[in-house]
Amino acid sequence: MCGIVGYVGGQSAQDVVVAGLKRLEYRGYDSAGVAVLADGGLAAAKKAGKLVNLEKELGDRPRPARRSRVGPTPGGAAPPPPPPPTPPPPPPGRPRAGGPGWAHRGGATRGAPPDANAHPHLDNAGRVAVVHNGIIENFAALRRELTGRGHALESETDTEVVAHLLAEAFSAGGDLADAMRQVCQRLEGAFTLVAVHADQPDVVVGARRNSPLVVGVGQDEWFLASDVAAFIAHTRAAIELGQDQVVELSREGVTVTGFDGAPADVREYHVDWDASAAEKGGYASFMLKEIADQPQAVADTLLGRVDGEGSLTLDEVRIPDAELREVDKVVIVACGTAFHAGMIAKYAIEHWTRLPCETELASEFRYRDPILDQRTLVIAISQSGETMDTLMALRHAREQGAKVLAICNTNGSTIPRESDAVLYTHAGPEVAVASTKAFLTQLVACYLVALYLGQLRGTKWGDEIRTVVRQLSAISAEVESVLATMEPVRALARSLAHHDTVLFLGRHVGYPVALEGALKLKELAYMHAEGFAAGELKHGPIALIEEGLPVVVIVPSPRGRSVLHDKIVSNIQEIRARGALTVVVAEEGDEAVVPYADHLITVPATPTLLQPLVATVPLQVFACELATARGNEVDQPRNLAKSVTVE
Ligand code: AGP
Repeated sequence: MCGIVGYVGGQSAQDVVVAGLKRLEYRGYDSAGVAVLADGGLAAAKKAGKLVNLEKELGDRPRPARRSRVGPTPGGAAPPPPPPPTPPPPPPGRPRAGGPGWAHRGGATRGAPPDANAHPHLDNAGRVAVVHNGIIENFAALRRELTGRGHALESETDTEVVAHLLAEAFSAGGDLADAMRQVCQRLEGAFTLVAVHADQPDVVVGARRNSPLVVGVGQDEWFLASDVAAFIAHTRAAIELGQDQVVELSREGVTVTGFDGAPADVREYHVDWDASAAEKGGYASFMLKEIADQPQAVADTLLGRVDGEGSLTLDEVRIPDAELREVDKVVIVACGTAFHAGMIAKYAIEHWTRLPCETELASEFRYRDPILDQRTLVIAISQSGETMDTLMALRHAREQGAKVLAICNTNGSTIPRESDAVLYTHAGPEVAVASTKAFLTQLVACYLVALYLGQLRGTKWGDEIRTVVRQLSAISAEVESVLATMEPVRALARSLAHHDTVLFLGRHVGYPVALEGALKLKELAYMHAEGFAAGELKHGPIALIEEGLPVVVIVPSPRGRSVLHDKIVSNIQEIRARGALTVVVAEEGDEAVVPYADHLITVPATPTLLQPLVATVPLQVFACELATARGNEVDQPRNLAKSVTVE
């Protein structure tokens, strides 16, 4: 839910971390705070509300000259760095720009987000500062212990408990990293922690369990962040931190251990996003940019996965082919938009592989006691790779012996790290909370997995697979053509902005598309929007139809299963006869729907199973435009965060 940025190096820590927070604004925005070490002291500031409130609090102040970078002289050791200029004393209670520091943007996990509950939290002596992402489930007991030992806690948060525990552990001997390891062994729940201690002025220490934390490796400078977007303006070399690990950043570099102190193997990787990719690129919002990014995202997700003969090569899928051939059931677990992608994948998997496939909401999955064994393949779909519901579902699956394949958009995130294999989507950074390009690339990845299983099991011949791959390769241009014809959709959205309800209908793969269109409208326009399987109309929902009610209908190709097409045309007739305002999404040339469409949105003709790749795009544009017409903030919808790292 929150964004965290830490820094050790020669730049102004305050400038680096506050700029990093700006890039993480989508992760949570109920408060913001910063802590900086300088001159043996620790200065902190924090404010409820948006980042701009903290920036006002920090105000303009003289910055110490940027410290000269002292690198190794050719062939020799680095000369000792000159003593840093003594920055002017900070105004009371305000951090200076100088030494190591970090900052945090929070969605308060406990307690309302007034200033006192904002991060960072300090110990009573003001020597330790800590920020936290996640939930510490045993904080009440720890709080009672601390107050019993005379600690005065000022906030309602679980985080403040950690500041006091760290202060105690540090004063008992050892350094801040030792103290962090000791404290982490007492905490239960999900947490990313980043702390500093005034007695170790050149050190930032972090720890993670079930919540994201990555290290950025610069030139004599190091970063710590909950998301690579915070530091890719400085470096694209990153280190993924594993479960139950503590990391220490100092002028000497990076040290990573387990909570038990054992040295950890770390893997450095290259972040292939650059800073500009994470910016808006001239669009009014990240969401508009990401909708426009979709043709490229689809093409990038196919890249390198098809060999010269058109056969599939999914090299990150590190589950041996022999084991995949033995799979006798597939279960897909995901949340929200990713769940809708999983629903569509189910149709493709069953059709192409003849394997039974279930798609289950991750938050429901483990509580239904699913039947899983070594021959079950569980596919966990997640853009962020940090969704706690999905992470807990895959853990449950692995405990039952199932193999887990992650489909994920975030390199180095927890879900792929805890899976047996991963197929990364290459959508690039998706910053807007409402998922768009990640959804289309999840579909592409799901189709590739389904084809790969079909290839291994022999249920799809090579030429059949090459045909589908060729059709997938054409989708990028088809999405481009849809995007070029969206002005009427935007005009329609503005004309409907005053409505309270919009319904969405679809059949077959159009049904999950209807659900996705409804979710987009819910989360962006804050209005009642509901998706139904069109066949369900007569079982209740048709009672909702009244004069002028907008109903969006996704129509399957007439060239596919004609019975589906005929039935949904009947559905359109039924609702129109009862006064509905019909908005019909159908493929170019489908004349049968024209008499019943008050508004017709045409999309390129595609194979039945691939239609969601083009039919979803107008619904994304529709929701974004209607929300904008309502004056809503489309990148950061109310009450939502981009990565839901709590259950
Ligand atoms: C979709 O627009 C929402 N942002 C939300 O439903 C999201 O898809 C869901 O929280 C899953 O997130 P994930 O893909 O990062 O796991």
